[in-house]
Amino acid sequence: MTKPIKRIAVCTGGGDAPGLNAVIQSVVIAADNLGWQCYGIRDGFNGILFPERYPEGGVYRLTRDKVRGIGHLGGTMLGTTNKGNPLHFPINMPDGTVREIDRSDEILTYFATHEIDALVSIGGDGSLTIANALHQKGLRVVGVPKTIDNDLDKTYTTFGFDTAVGFATECLDRLHATAESHQRVMVVEVMGRYAGWIALHAGIAGDAHVILLPEIGFDLDKVAAKIRERVSDGRPYSIVLVAEGAQPRDGHRELLAAAEVGHAERLGGIGETIARALAESTGNDTRVVVLGHLLRGGSPTAFDRLSALRFGAAAVRALDEGQSGVMVALGFRGVDYVALEEVAGHIRNVPLDCDTLQTGRDLGISFGD
Ligand code: F6P
Repeated sequence: MTKPIKRIAVCTGGGDAPGLNAVIQSVVIAADNLGWQCYGIRDGFNGILFPERYPEGGVYRLTRDKVRGIGHLGGTMLGTTNKGNPLHFPINMPDGTVREIDRSDEILTYFATHEIDALVSIGGDGSLTIANALHQKGLRVVGVPKTIDNDLDKTYTTFGFDTAVGFATECLDRLHATAESHQRVMVVEVMGRYAGWIALHAGIAGDAHVILLPEIGFDLDKVAAKIRERVSDGRPYSIVLVAEGAQPRDGHRELLAAAEVGHAERLGGIGETIARALAESTGNDTRVVVLGHLLRGGSPTAFDRLSALRFGAAAVRALDEGQSGVMVALGFRGVDYVALEEVAGHIRNVPLDCDTLQTGRDLGISFGD
């Protein structure tokens, strides 16, 4: 029989996303209602791995009072990091090289010594892969799917995505006005890593004329032809929305920084490259706007807030039912649970036959192919 739960911990890992605080709030209140104590781990697992950095405690008690009124706030009250995965932790060697070691046992030891019975891990693919490894080593773990990129498998959506799409759409609305007034091409770059969900959804909602996705290798001549066609139709301005992971059909992805030990590669720069090439080939006045981290800030939309609150409460219910090694997911009929191992390491791309993409084509949007 599994030991009854008395204490749980919660952590947030990877890039922040609007709705994290709402999940934390929901976990703490739902746990408190069951008579459990809840603890927050600071900055991913850094609160456990680097206690010396936190004189006030790398892991601290979260009471109802501590989470009151935070549900509408962006960011995460616990802090987060997308460096230093405990499974592949970078350490500097005396010879100047950097090596990776597995520090996950230190997390298990911490939980055992402090009699913390389970973990709610809120994160994207990286954090859920860590959560799955901890579960396989015997820790009771439930994952909660977070990312503005919406690239997690087995869930209809992740919280943070709706807020990012809403903001990007509002930016496109604003850019239409200035683009039309100045008869310019505005190239707008959005985040999303290797998936084009943000670009696709915001691009269609925000009436972009060209949308470039990582899933569809683009041909710049086709993009230029679309812009020229609009000029000859009497619409001498265009909005080109580019996902940071988009790449030319015969080219490569643009990086701001290559992968290093302990840190994934940073995508970005494709907007600038496309803008330069389009200015040259079309002769149009062209500007670039990189929305970048603005997409991660701000208050969660009502949809994201509600998903986050539902996910947090469902994570606690899962633990109460004795589940472990699962991720809370949004299904068509409500919250569902899926095995973490089915999610870990699987990126969900935009399917080329999805109706949203088809809608874009039906509306005459160019995908550069
Ligand atoms: O995964 C979320 C995300 O915002 C991606 O869209 C983006 O590529 C990445 O994080 C940026 O991370 P960083 O915070 O390291 O710049």
